[in-house]
Amino acid sequence: MSTVFTSLAASLDGYIQSKDGDLGWLNQFMAKGEDYGFEATLKRTGAYIMGANTYHEMAGMAGSGATPVYVVTHNQSLKTNRHTHVYSGDLDELVRTIKAGLAPDKDIYLFGGGQLLTQFIEQNLLDELSIAIVPIILGEGIPLFRHFSLPKRLLLTKHQTYASGMILLDYRLSR
Ligand SMILES: NC(=O)c1ccc[n+]([C@@H]2O[C@H](COP(=O)([O-])OP(=O)(O)OC[C@H]3O[C@@H](n4cnc5c(N)ncnc54)[C@H](OP(=O)(O)O)[C@@H]3O)[C@@H](O)[C@H]2O)c1
Repeated sequence: MSTVFTSLAASLDGYIQSKDGDLGWLNQFMAKGEDYGFEATLKRTGAYIMGANTYHEMAGMAGSGATPVYVVTHNQSLKTNRHTHVYSGDLDELVRTIKAGLAPDKDIYLFGGGQLLTQFIEQNLLDELSIAIVPIILGEGIPLFRHFSLPKRLLLTKHQTYASGMILLDYRLSR
């Protein structure tokens, strides 16, 4: 059965983007020749979901070729390409609709950002959360998480450290 997963990088103080939008804070810790699980992620991804802010900034990084991208936005006239769909409405229904059309070995990659991720967790729509903690304190920027109504428990399934000081944490969320 297909799952919904996310994979993000965050500063130690919980920001997924710097205030000025420059990715230097992250790129300086990425080692050449290290894949960070990217190929495996690409292979399992049957569809991307992302918030409008992420789409505006990072659309080029998500997916290649024909993998469908669903942009969650109130802006129904957002300019997109052939494989990109604009969605506004119930997130649970979006997930169910995408899953219905996915091959069983493919999963949904919730690509970000923090606003949409928070809603997915809040609505129990996320199965796996993978966070690369970058050894930097940004002080300000775009937060990984917004407000949650209740505490959420997670199960740590894997952890990995890199020479650059990055730590990869994989969690499973209970529905
Ligand atoms: N470090 C990483 O790994 C990583 C990964 C992904 C993204 N990012 C960064 O994260 C930043 C964006 O994150 P963010 O939290 O600001 O925004 P976001 O979650 O990407 O997008 C938020 C926007 O999506 C739309 N939206 C959200 N929920 C909706 C809903 N339920 N119904 C309809 N529309 C909805 C709204 O846009 P409208 O006003 O258009 O409706 C909202 O302003 C970017 O800077 C990106 O580069 C970082």
